[in-house]
Amino acid sequence: MTIETFIATYGVNRKQTDSLKWDALAERYGDADLLPLWVADMEFKTPHSVVAALQERVAHGVFGYSNVPTDYFAAYAGWQARHEQTPFQKEWLFFSTGVVQSLYDLIACFTEVGDAILIQPPVYYPFFNAIVAQDRKLVTSNLIRQGATYQMNLTDFEQKIEQEHVKAFILCSPHNPVGRVWQPAELMAILEICQRHQVLVIADEIHSDLVFQPFTSTASLASATGLENLIVVNAPSKTFNLASLLHSHIWIPGAKRRGTYEEWAARHRQTENSSLGQLAAKVAYETGDQWLENLLQVIQQNYEYVKNCLGTALPEIKIGPLEGTYLLWLDLTDLVPANEVKTYVQDQAKLAVDFGEWFSPETKNFIRLNLATTPNIIQEACDRLIAEKGERL
Ligand SMILES: Cc1ncc(COP(=O)(O)O)c(C=O)c1O
Repeated sequence: MTIETFIATYGVNRKQTDSLKWDALAERYGDADLLPLWVADMEFKTPHSVVAALQERVAHGVFGYSNVPTDYFAAYAGWQARHEQTPFQKEWLFFSTGVVQSLYDLIACFTEVGDAILIQPPVYYPFFNAIVAQDRKLVTSNLIRQGATYQMNLTDFEQKIEQEHVKAFILCSPHNPVGRVWQPAELMAILEICQRHQVLVIADEIHSDLVFQPFTSTASLASATGLENLIVVNAPSKTFNLASLLHSHIWIPGAKRRGTYEEWAARHRQTENSSLGQLAAKVAYETGDQWLENLLQVIQQNYEYVKNCLGTALPEIKIGPLEGTYLLWLDLTDLVPANEVKTYVQDQAKLAVDFGEWFSPETKNFIRLNLATTPNIIQEACDRLIAEKGERL
């Protein structure tokens, strides 16, 4: 399928469909009239094969308690083998209703009140909440900005682990919002540090399919350092636009930790599986390869458009490389002071974006744009940002 055909076939207007992104603007931003480029879902329908399977299930008309589809594991393992080549095994797998829920659960299960948990801001803001809301101690090791991109600060990372007696580390890989796909050497370095200090690594790999260069799962590397101290969380929801079907995965490779989690879950988690979520995921893993390839082409094209368009007309906005995710991290430092970012972007250009300060108190000059949308929306967003500069001259 060409990019144009993909957009014509799958692009969709989501207004007035109870969409958080489109229909909660007044509630979230105080202005219903914004162009939404915030929360991480897409203006593309999930593959037709997935919709057809769901329609058949819906037509049956029964939504009683259900088993995991018998061929779920084969479909998921097949996808893993084709896309990520992880050493993933069936006994590692637990289901959950979402990755954020899993982060809360894993913190509750594997740490105690007051334990120190480390994250690397700027980072997806629920990481902060999952730690603070459960009365754990938030420890941060900021990523270091180098030119337009970001690196981990390994010296600071290890020092913080030692000084704060860190018990767990939540890794974002690929990284939201800076768009890095971490290289095997970078991942190996942090896995080794964590192994040295017996820190549990919880790797959020939800964006692992949305990459523009090879992705390496921590699970592929950790066999060298010790799988007992690694847990991976991921889901089909970002990849195939299925977030509200509430279905995600937790991999616990270590037998001892699996036992601990099972015991904890028996006391705290009595949730049933989402039958529609599992069915959608299974069919997407079986049949979604070509759809994903097309989607990545659209995201790449949108990225090139923003880079060229703003690069020419608004070079004050600095744009880094997009290695992974469909979330673009824009530096507005040379355009407006930090305290005017909201005025410029939201009040005047009329865009609903994720503001940099949500990801770190130190990134108030940044915004995050969602590129997983139709090119006309991306063009409109760029036009508005450029027109606003004209207004100010
Ligand atoms: C890094 C990361 N983890 C988790 C989520 C949300 O996952 P879920 O909807 O399964 O809770 C997102 C959504 O943007 C994300 O970027």
